[in-house]
Amino acid sequence: MPLIKKLRATFFNNSPNKEWPGLIEAYRSKLPVSKKTPIITLKEGNTPLIELKNISNQIGRGVKVFAKYDGLNPTGSFKDRGMTMAISKAKEKGCEAVICASTGNTSAAAAAYAKKGGMRCFVLIPEGYVAQGKLAQALVYGAEVLSIKGNFDIALEIVQKMANDYPLTLVNSVNPYRLEGQKTAAFEIIDALGEAPDWLCIPMGNAGNITAYWMGFKEYYKAGISKNLPKMMGFQAKGSAPLVYKKTIEKPETIATAIRIGNPVNREKAIKVKQESNGQFEAVTDSEIINAYQLLGSEEGIFCEPASAASVAGLLKNSKKVPENTKIVCVLTGNGLKDPDCAINNHKATFHKGLEPDLRELTKVMKIKQI
Ligand code: F0G
Repeated sequence: MPLIKKLRATFFNNSPNKEWPGLIEAYRSKLPVSKKTPIITLKEGNTPLIELKNISNQIGRGVKVFAKYDGLNPTGSFKDRGMTMAISKAKEKGCEAVICASTGNTSAAAAAYAKKGGMRCFVLIPEGYVAQGKLAQALVYGAEVLSIKGNFDIALEIVQKMANDYPLTLVNSVNPYRLEGQKTAAFEIIDALGEAPDWLCIPMGNAGNITAYWMGFKEYYKAGISKNLPKMMGFQAKGSAPLVYKKTIEKPETIATAIRIGNPVNREKAIKVKQESNGQFEAVTDSEIINAYQLLGSEEGIFCEPASAASVAGLLKNSKKVPENTKIVCVLTGNGLKDPDCAINNHKATFHKGLEPDLRELTKVMKIKQI
């Protein structure tokens, strides 16, 4: 080993050569890529699994809760996992333009990966219902943004038609490569825990992610890499819960705009996941979501977006039903920085404004005595 590498090895516990290559290279043998596939990556994946010690203690009875913090992906959400696959495969077949409908995160990820791959990227978004950070991302990454007077479900219907009749590749989660990429999050959880969790708590919108996780868990199980399968616990916001109420919601509403979806395209697949995993679908109210969102921030040091907090809100709602000594993973799908308005409008922190820059005044407000 060259000296410089030896020296570095004394500073790092891991091998100094082990730079994360992005999820396609990391899980190449389990993904539908070949030597001919141009890999378009931003080194997504390899996100941390963080023990939520305060929430675990709150539940008690030896229950261990972890967060799969996918908001730490390059564009700040789990969508990067699916997008590296969808865009690499689109590039492989010579596609020049991609399109998606989005509540925000898909558009950010599609734009970043498509533009990196030298393609045009069109995004249809519901006007007034996309968080500021996500819109900013789509614009900066260079998407061609079409904001419509209609919700996500209408936007998705239109882009599906467009992709049929125009030279555009659809990169919503009806694109099978998206789910292939997203299943790697389940691999990473098993790689970290050494087994699958007992429960996986996850927010559902279009229900692509819950489907992808189940694919990943089953694949490792069939390969003998894990000996168990989790119960899949899917949560939706109460005003946008078609999978819970088993009907299309014409006018979905929730503070968690990412999952403001009334007619999920992966409905049938999600129902199958629930049946196969002996899982459960449940609704959580906006105030339960905000409560979990604040708890994650103020007690666990994790700033996720409101839609992501639905997984923890759902767990807390079921905390008495959790069997003793179980391991639970809550998926935190997106980064809180994407939706600063929600944070500013819903915090419980102390925030004194308009103070004079005077030491005595300030320490008085701080209610702190001199030593
Ligand atoms: N969490 C976040 C932060 C999301 O952005 C989404 C979906 C979900 C959860 C739900 O995932 O649709 O696979 O069940 N966002 C899509 C978008 C719809 O356009 O960004 P799902």
